[in-house]
Amino acid sequence: MAKISPSSNPEKEENLIDYVKQMQSLGADFMHMDVMDGNFVQNKCLNASLVNNVNKNTVISLDVHLMVENPKEHILNYIYAGANIITIHYESYKNITDLLEDINTIRTTNHTLVGISLKPNTDINVISKILKLFDLVLIMTVEPGKSGQKFMDSVISKIKALKQQIVENNLNTLIEVDGGVNMDNAKQIVDAGADILVMGNAIYNATNKKEVIDYVHSL
Ligand code: DX5
Ligand code: ZN
Repeated sequence: MAKISPSSNPEKEENLIDYVKQMQSLGADFMHMDVMDGNFVQNKCLNASLVNNVNKNTVISLDVHLMVENPKEHILNYIYAGANIITIHYESYKNITDLLEDINTIRTTNHTLVGISLKPNTDINVISKILKLFDLVLIMTVEPGKSGQKFMDSVISKIKALKQQIVENNLNTLIEVDGGVNMDNAKQIVDAGADILVMGNAIYNATNKKEVIDYVHSL
């Protein structure tokens, strides 16, 4: 069974709590909270106080995707706001020491799960040696920065290669896929090895949102 993490995008921030409540009541497994700082990516959205408000009003696990230039400045704020998973971008780091330090901060604060995200053009081999440090790898299938872009089929082979490394090393690392995921390509992505599918527009625009969630659970 695959899991679904509906994205906070493209819902408007003022409606976010109601949207998260709706996703929760329809049976979504996680809520994917896209944090953009206007530097790492051009757009700016979400902040720790809004995440905290969502957390106070819901019980669903919060899967926080940090698209920020300096994760160190943000990690603890989002953990204290209620994040269950913190996913940092490999590309946000200039050196491995800072990355290792942030992984440690996440893991040792409130037992938060650690995710690492890779942009479409970042090779998975950059994390091969440290794969066991992560609970989750978030494979981007669009350039991070906005919802509603087209899924890049070329990333499918990367999902397969990552799955192979996870199996070969006997790890429990989950694969989450983010960007342009919809009802038409979901099966292909799960077959390639994905455990969790992020959906922004595909669920937001669906007239029958329950059907989308049930379909992902059937994969
Ligand atoms: C892109 C974000 C995604 C996005 C998903 O930078 O990380 O989570 O909101 O939206 P869709 O599914 O519409 O591509
Ligand atoms: Zn995301």
